[in-house]
Amino acid sequence: MRHHPPTGERTTRRSPGPAIPVCSDNEWDPLEECVVGTARRSMFPAEDERMIRATMPREHWHRFVAGNPFPADIVDNAERELDGLSALLESRGVRVRRPRPVDWTELGGYTAAMPRDGFLVVGDRIVEAPMAWRSRRDELSAYLPLIREYRQDGATWLPSGVSHDSACLLEGTASPDGDWAINDSRPAWDAADFLRLGEGIVVGQLSHVTNRSGVEHLRERLGPGYRVHLLEPDDPHAMHIDASLCPLTEGLALYNPDRLTPRRLRHTPLHDWRLVPAPVPKHRTWPPLYMTSPWISMNLLVLGPEHVLVEAEDDDMCALLEELGYRPLRCPFRHVQSLGGSFHCATLDIRRRGDRPG
Ligand code: NVA
Repeated sequence: MRHHPPTGERTTRRSPGPAIPVCSDNEWDPLEECVVGTARRSMFPAEDERMIRATMPREHWHRFVAGNPFPADIVDNAERELDGLSALLESRGVRVRRPRPVDWTELGGYTAAMPRDGFLVVGDRIVEAPMAWRSRRDELSAYLPLIREYRQDGATWLPSGVSHDSACLLEGTASPDGDWAINDSRPAWDAADFLRLGEGIVVGQLSHVTNRSGVEHLRERLGPGYRVHLLEPDDPHAMHIDASLCPLTEGLALYNPDRLTPRRLRHTPLHDWRLVPAPVPKHRTWPPLYMTSPWISMNLLVLGPEHVLVEAEDDDMCALLEELGYRPLRCPFRHVQSLGGSFHCATLDIRRRGDRPG
C-alpha cells in the first residue's frame, strides 16, 4: 500500500520555482494557485431533454429551458460563498484567480462557477476539454484573460480543436459503450470526468458527457508519458467522477459506496490504495440541489497533506477526515452546491508544490 500518512513531510519536495505558473499533476500536493469560479448570471443550461433526463434530478427537469436564470438569492449567496472560499484560500497563502464576469443570459450559456469541467491541468499544460453540452460552447470566454496570461508566462495551452457545432447527442440510438445520452460522432469529454493521480496516471470514466473518442482525444493530448485508466462506477446518471471518488493523497481515497467498491477498483491503478467509504450524505431540502445528487458532499478540495475543504455543516465528513489524520477546513458552500458542484468543481488547481513532472 502506498498510503503516505498526512504528516506534512511531503511538503519538503522540490518546488518548481516561480518561473512556471502552471504546475499540477495530482489532486493532493500543497496548493499554491487556483482559479475559483464566479456564480454571477448563472443560468439553467438548456440542453436536449434526453440529456437532462439522463443527468439531472427528476424534480428539476422542467427548469432546464432556455432563458431561465437560477434564483437570484441562490446566485447571490453562492457568489458570497465563492468570495468566502477565495478569502479562506488567500489567508492560507494560496494565490486565487477569478474568471471574468460573462452575461450568460446573452450568450445562452450556463455558468463560470465550475472551472473544473472545462480544463484539465496536467504538468505545465492546460488542456481544453471538448465538452458535450452546447450550452457550454462559450464558457472559455470567461477564462481567456487568465489563459493568455499563463501562456505568456510559459504554460502550454492545448485547445480542444473540436467544433461545438457538431452535436454528439443520440437520436434514439444506443451508444456503442452503453446507454449514454451521447454517441461517438465527435470526441467529447468533460475534465471533471477525470482525476490526476500523479506519476503519469489519470483515472476517469465514460459518462453522459464523455465518450470513447473523447478518451482517445485526451490520451493523444497527454501523450505517451501518461496513462488514462477508465474506472467503471455503477452510476446510470454518470456525469463527472468527482462525487464518486476523492483521492486525498497518494495511496488514500474516499469512494462513494453507492457507486464503487474496493472490488470494482481491483484492476485499476487504485488496487493497492487504502479505500475508505465516504459518509452517506444527510437529506437536505434547501437550498435545492438542482443539478446533482447529495453525494456532492464528497466533492472536496485537498489543500495539502493536512487540510481539506469541507462544507461547513458536514459534521460526518469532518469526523471522518479527522479520523484519517486531516484537519478539515469548514467553509459554507451549500448555495454553490445548488448550482451544480462543490469545492472540487468550483476550482481549478493551477499550481501545486511538488516534483516537476518529466
Ligand atoms: N453528477 C454527480 C456530481 C459530480 C460533481 C452527482 O450528481 O453525484
